[in-house]
Order: sequence, then structure tokens, then C-alpha cells
Amino acid sequence: MEGVDGKVKLPVHVREAFKSDRDAVFDFCRHTWSWGDYIPHVWDQWLQEPNGKVFVAVLDGAPVGIQHISIDKPGEAWLSGARTAPRYRRMGVATAITAKCLEYAKSMGVKVVRLATESDNPAAVAAVQKMGFKPIAEFIEMVLEKTFKANSHSSRWADGGNLGDVWLYLQSSEAYRRAAGLYTVLYHWYSLDKTDLERFLDEGKAIIYEGKGNGAVDGLVLVDDAVASEWRENAIQTCYIDGAFEAVSDMADFLVDYCYRQGVEKIYGFTCNYKPLTDALTKHGFKKPEKTVIAFEKHL
Ligand SMILES: CC(C)(COP(=O)(O)OP(=O)(O)OC[C@H]1O[C@@H](n2cnc3c(N)ncnc32)[C@H](O)[C@@H]1OP(=O)(O)O)[C@@H](O)C(=O)NCCC(=O)NCCS
Repeated sequence: MEGVDGKVKLPVHVREAFKSDRDAVFDFCRHTWSWGDYIPHVWDQWLQEPNGKVFVAVLDGAPVGIQHISIDKPGEAWLSGARTAPRYRRMGVATAITAKCLEYAKSMGVKVVRLATESDNPAAVAAVQKMGFKPIAEFIEMVLEKTFKANSHSSRWADGGNLGDVWLYLQSSEAYRRAAGLYTVLYHWYSLDKTDLERFLDEGKAIIYEGKGNGAVDGLVLVDDAVASEWRENAIQTCYIDGAFEAVSDMADFLVDYCYRQGVEKIYGFTCNYKPLTDALTKHGFKKPEKTVIAFEKHL
């Protein structure tokens, strides 16, 4: 079969994954990266998700590619785990599976589909752009290996009573705009709408900065401990960071000290790659990697 550009394309059939695809999929994911792949870790969970599906491309009855889609909230979906077996790459497999995912998303009323790729993955960056996804924000995963005792002055855990003020703060925030209004749990980005914000506040996972002296909210850090259970580490992560350099510094002092007192050793500082935020984390000893994570979206 010939593609529009004259290249030979594979006559793959795309269908939902079966449990029995497991061995073939694990086999071609074995060497995705130097350390292996996370697909075997999430496979069972993905196949059981009520709000998600795994699609596979099949050639002569054998799986040669996969991709996962989850519908996170009405109108919004997330793509992850795109894999094509090494010997079948550049033959349209990922494009065919993504098209199926988008078709499914559309049938479920999804209006926007997002995904993330690392900046040092030219194949993925080129593939998603060819499929019409546009880059919307750049994130970075900074890491603090060891927490310590620190003093903050104007930061505290927020609660549900702060919802209105925090939401108002976000509406005129430059960091919120640069983050395309997204926050992350693990490597999955979601829109930070008022409902999700309320959940962070109610669960005691939001730190606010009130350094202006008039009680106004002037900075925000959202955190989550999913990394502890999913990555089996004595760690937590930031999901969203917002504020001027001084504000983020003070909230970082608060968080680092809190973790130290709780015996949490490590903090994954996920943040939008925006200088006032990353500079404040660097000042606290967070290490900045070379690569960033680019979030893309496509409207259906
Ligand atoms: C990224 C990946 C899924 C792409 O799968 P694929 O089946 O080879 O993709 P397609 O054949 O549908 O490619 C579509 C387009 O993407 C671009 N592309 C894909 N791989 C590319 C590469 N290595 N270099 C440059 N462009 C590339 C091309 O424009 C290609 O169209 P073309 O071949 O007609 O020029 C595959 O390389 C892979 O499994 N990589 C390892 C895992 C990974 O990085 N997953 C993505 C994580 S976000």
C-alpha cells in the first residue's frame, strides 16, 4: 500500500487491545528506552480503566503498535503510551492508531485531546505535529534529592475557603497562561479548572503565599503524593507552581520543610518552564534536567 507521499505504508488494522496482546506488546516495548519501558507496569490498569482504552495496530494478526487514551473529564482526553515496534516505524502505524483514538474521542464528545512528549524525542515531536497537534506549553521535571529544614514566612496550606481568591488569582496569572492552564500528576496533564482546584484545596494539597501583607493570595503550589505509590519512592511531586520569584521561594521553603518534618526525602518539582519559577527551585537545590516536556493539543 502506498502513502500519499509515495512511501510504502503498512496495511494495519487498528482495534481495541485484548488481554492476549500482552506478550507481543511487552516484547516490542522491551527496549523502548535504555531502561526499558513503563508499559508493562500500567498494562493491566489501562485495560480495566472505565474511562480509557488501549488501541493496537495489528499486522497479519500480530500487534505492531499501541496507544492509550483516557477521557479525563467531559470534553477532554489524554493520549499516552504511543509505541511502534522498532522494525515497523516510519510506516504510518502511530498515525493510524492516533486517528482511531481521535475518532473514538470524538464519538465520546471530546473537544480537545492533549499529549506530552519529551523535547529530546524528535520522532515523537515530528509525528504529533504531522498529525496536527500544536505545542501549547513547556514543562520541566526538576528534582530535589534531599529535603531539609527551612523557614517560610508567608506561606500556608490553603483550604476550601480560599477557593474564590485562588481562582481569581489564577485568572490574571502569567504562569497559568504559560502553563496553558494545565497541571500534572505523574506525567499526565489536566486542565486546572475550578473543580480540580477545589479538590486540591479540600484535600489539603495546596500551598498559598500571602506575602503582600493584605491577606491577598499571591502564589500557589499544588502537590500530590502519587509518585510515592506509583514510582515506589519516598517522594512527593509538585503538580503546579505559580508566583513571582519571592513567592515561589517562600512556598518552596514551606514545602521542603514540611517534607523534611514528615520524613519525605525527595521532591519532584514539576513546573511550567518559566524563569521566575525554575530560578526559585534552583535556589533551593532542585536540579534542572537538559530536556523539557512539551504539551501538545488538538481540537476536534
Ligand atoms: C514515536 C513513534 C510512536 C512514531 O511511530 P511511527 O509508527 O514510526 O510513526 P508514523 O510512521 O506514523 O510517522 C508519522 C510521521 O512522524 C514523523 N516521524 C516519525 N518518526 C520519525 C523520526 N524518527 N524522525 C523524524 N520524523 C519522524 C514523520 O513525519 C512521519 O511521517 P513520514 O514517515 O511520512 O515522514 C515511534 O517512533 C516509537 O515507538 N518511538 C519510541 C516510543 C516513543 O517515543 N513514543 C512516544 C512517546 S511520547
